[in-house]
Amino acid sequence: ESSNSRKLKKVHADATQLYHHILVNTQIGEEALDYLHERGLNDDIINEFNLGYAPEKAILGAFFTERKVASEVLKKSGLFVEYDDGTLNDRFRDRVLFPIRDAQGSTIAFSGRLLHKDDKQPKYLNSPETELFNKRKILFNFDKAKSEIRQKKFAILFEGFMDVLAAYRSGIKNGIASMGTSLTNEQIYLLERTTNELFLCYDGDSAGQNAIARALELLEPVTKLKLGVIRIPEKMDPDEYVQKYGEKAFVQLIADAHETKIAFYMRYYQQNRNLANENDQLAYIADVMEKLAVVESPVEQDLYLNQLANRFALEKDSLKLQLREFVKKFK
Ligand code: UTP
Ligand code: MN
Ligand code: MN
Ligand code: MN
Ligand code: MN
Repeated sequence: ESSNSRKLKKVHADATQLYHHILVNTQIGEEALDYLHERGLNDDIINEFNLGYAPEKAILGAFFTERKVASEVLKKSGLFVEYDDGTLNDRFRDRVLFPIRDAQGSTIAFSGRLLHKDDKQPKYLNSPETELFNKRKILFNFDKAKSEIRQKKFAILFEGFMDVLAAYRSGIKNGIASMGTSLTNEQIYLLERTTNELFLCYDGDSAGQNAIARALELLEPVTKLKLGVIRIPEKMDPDEYVQKYGEKAFVQLIADAHETKIAFYMRYYQQNRNLANENDQLAYIADVMEKLAVVESPVEQDLYLNQLANRFALEKDSLKLQLREFVKKFK
């Protein structure tokens, strides 16, 4: 490990402790702490994840100058924004902070959530790419989750940090999240070395469901991971579900709401369609068949052909015939 990255890790470790201290022990952090409590995070989990608060007023410059950290190091840390005249200011202000850790558990970046609504700023702000932080390679919570993923033999991918924490406090500790982007090949590689099954548990709103469809398209050709979907009802995200129905109900949901890829598509392709209309019916069936054509298991194909046949009162033989056409097209 280079001396540079050692220094940057020390800066991040110190900043983590400072921001955490401000959140849990000071009056400046009180509102943020109340906010987290209201969102269902208790002190144990706040401490375990070292959540923090970056106040409105800049604090890091003085803190690190007192500790004799060179400004060259600070500039490389990503924790500051640099003005034209070379002066530094804290990047994160008035934000609740989620430390982002590498696979060994060292903090290498932060993501900060606005405490007060502000239409001019993004809700979540991440550290920029640095020598330590390459967001393509990082999965939030992977360091804590990896042993649980090995043990349970599957991982659950969430959209947001709060969703990972909501699952964690429910006792579901094999949850991870990417950094607000779709999965990269590096992240997939990390997962493939740890498990052979991945469930996508994205938000139940249409943005989340579209993201699942995109993720499946993207993942399918490049991974040997078995892919499934966990469906959150009522357009909620996992965190909202836990808030509304409680941790026990969420554990139950994770156990019950598994969907195969095809089951997901059969639900997804209904969106924006009126299945009482024959044109929509045909388009829907064609979409589902296109996905069914690449399913390798004949039993699985049969299962869904039966469902389609029953649902639309069709002869299974005609569905089979059509499926064969699709298979030819894709082989
Ligand atoms: P969501 O908008 O679903 O946020 O974005 P959330 O996780 O439910 O956040 P809360 O519950 O309002 O606190 C999902 C993820 O997309 C990324 C973040 O990683 C977020 O967790 N994101 C979202 C950004 O990077 N920037 C944004 O401005 C918003
Ligand atoms: Mn409180
Ligand atoms: Mn969302
Ligand atoms: Mn969400
Ligand atoms: Mn949310």
